[in-house]
Amino acid sequence: MNEQIGNEQIGYETGDGVAQIRIERPEKKNALTAVLYTGLVEAFKRAESDPAVRVLLLCGSDTCFTAGNDLQDFMNTPPRDETNPTIRFIKQLPVTRKPIIAAVAGPAVGIGTTMLLHCDLVYADPNTRFQLPFVTLGLCPEAASSYLLPQIVGFPRAAELLLMGDPFSAQQALEMGMINGITPAGEVIATTLAKAKQMAERPAASLLLTKSLLKRAHARQVAEIMAEELTQFGERLRSPEAAEAFRAFFERRKPDFSKFI
Ligand code: COA
Repeated sequence: MNEQIGNEQIGYETGDGVAQIRIERPEKKNALTAVLYTGLVEAFKRAESDPAVRVLLLCGSDTCFTAGNDLQDFMNTPPRDETNPTIRFIKQLPVTRKPIIAAVAGPAVGIGTTMLLHCDLVYADPNTRFQLPFVTLGLCPEAASSYLLPQIVGFPRAAELLLMGDPFSAQQALEMGMINGITPAGEVIATTLAKAKQMAERPAASLLLTKSLLKRAHARQVAEIMAEELTQFGERLRSPEAAEAFRAFFERRKPDFSKFI
């Protein structure tokens, strides 16, 4: 089965025990709007409830994963409550019971990196450019990344990635233990799909149980920290610093934060 969800911007394809969930908005570097988040949540829920699906494969294209939240959407409709599609997607990530494997290439910005912290395996194209630019946008970390990133890469590196917000490469991500491997250039989706199919051949009950055991120790902290981050993030989105950062992006200039205390 191969179909489109969410204004045709989320591809959903199943076969051999794998649900492939693809972000497809190439003209905006797969930046995520409310429509795309809604489509992603629907795709995740569909995969979770389909007994034929054992593994989720999350990807963009072979050249672009996602430029993160759509900044125009953020300015126009900042998330306010639990019904917001961004919040629904973020909350769906840690409660997904089936293993999630991600195939990443090109930009993986903001939530394009933080969603990977909830995936079980991550493979990247050599051209992948990860970035956590929350501070440089006047925002703060989300998706429990302020908790999960130090767990995964250690405090000094997490602090550098989150406080400086500079891009980093697939090789750096591999060395920090953030991803499982780097695939040959231009083949990240095919290589990762083969891995996902291999995993889907394993006993479904053992896959579910093992994932839940792996995640159990941190589940409560992840939920609590996610909620706290979302409150702070919502406030930061309405800050003058964020407004300046978003305007600067669309005006293709460097933001000037000097006038803010
Ligand atoms: N939100 C809204 N639009 C975005 C976007 C985003 N997050 N990321 C890219 N776009 C749009 C650009 O405005 C541009 O639109 P246009 O062609 O109508 O002008 C188009 O997508 C292509 O982006 P462009 O910046 O020209 O591509 P690039 O290859 O030079 O750079 C990125 C790619 C991802 C490095 C760059 O677009 C970027 O930094 N995006 C913002 C990332 C970000 O801050 N995300 C939010 C994290 S919380």
